[in-house]
Amino acid sequence: MKHPILSFEPFFTWGWRSKIMYKPGAREELDFEMENLGGTKVFLCTDKGLVQADVAEMVIETIKASRLELVGFYDKIVQDARIDLINEGAALYRKCGADCMVSVGGGSVMDTAKAINILIGKGLDDFSPLADQVGLFEDAEPLPPHIAFPTTAGTGAEVSYGMVVLGDITKGKITCGHPYCSPDIAMLDPELTVNLPPKITAFTAMDAMTHAIEAVINGSANPISDSLGLHAIRIIMTYLPEVMKNADNVEARGYLLLASSMAGISMANALLGAVHSTAHALGALYGIPHGLANSIMLPHVMTFNLEEDPTRFIFIADAMGVKIDDMTAEQAARAAVEALKDLQKSVGLTETLKDFGVPDDREALQPLIDLAMGDAQTPYNPRYLEEDDVYDLYLKAR
Ligand SMILES: [Fe+2]
Repeated sequence: MKHPILSFEPFFTWGWRSKIMYKPGAREELDFEMENLGGTKVFLCTDKGLVQADVAEMVIETIKASRLELVGFYDKIVQDARIDLINEGAALYRKCGADCMVSVGGGSVMDTAKAINILIGKGLDDFSPLADQVGLFEDAEPLPPHIAFPTTAGTGAEVSYGMVVLGDITKGKITCGHPYCSPDIAMLDPELTVNLPPKITAFTAMDAMTHAIEAVINGSANPISDSLGLHAIRIIMTYLPEVMKNADNVEARGYLLLASSMAGISMANALLGAVHSTAHALGALYGIPHGLANSIMLPHVMTFNLEEDPTRFIFIADAMGVKIDDMTAEQAARAAVEALKDLQKSVGLTETLKDFGVPDDREALQPLIDLAMGDAQTPYNPRYLEEDDVYDLYLKAR
């Protein structure tokens, strides 16, 4: 089979504001880059796990040895960017007289830091009314400087203008955005990721894989988002197994960080779909970590989508290393799902929804289905979903 042409809507715009700096030891550049942005008094956001693992300390030491001043430190951030903690962090930022943000962490830390920065920039003290504005905020203006150090290779939050926040549990996870909230600089320093536990390494990489796949099959995809998404898939297929075998391989860790940012940029331009909407609901109601929920849902949603149109999955299969020459489009698309499952198995991702107590009867699942149907990403899934489809996807993932 010859590759078909990847078609796209003949109008799109492309723009990106976050600068990416990649280097093992990139944190050494922090003071120079922050001073260029006009920041001197640092407010640092992280979480207690990273403090205990001495990862936050690696950045703190760099700040203390520099001309920057660490005036505020906030490590109460937990799984998911909670609105009460966003508000508390913003109050502390103001109290300590900070003029710039450094975030050290995964998606929850970086999204919390981005939301704090929005409150500081807008002079507000409560994020709740902003979270209800799904979509880009009106009359947005540039925000105070923010440099992010991702410590997981998965969310892409370091380059994304979107945030996923959790407030009122009945509303589930809310996706919102601000055109200036993506960090000014994403500093990709793989030395900060070598202590990441294997399980978290695996499921955060599957979050990046999901961003890449959902972006490539999305109706908003374009040649630029395709190039980033497909190469991110190649990198993850190659380097995730290597990192699982040799956790301290800094070069392989670096590739995963780059794939995460590439997939993040790809998805922020091409948008996502039903893997994320069903996973957001699982995170909100069953506390399943985001990357793991994506990993569980991904093969089932891929199969659901390819049954309507397998075309774009051909490219995904190719990027995954499947020999597609003698295959039909549908065979190649289904082979992509099998290649994904093989990867998941090889890195120990064998969980199902049953492991998290997700029930199978319709009545008990209805709150989950309602949240998924109302999620901001559902309308962007390339195949139209009915409630019964979502129910069926959850059953298949049990
Ligand atoms: Fe995600």
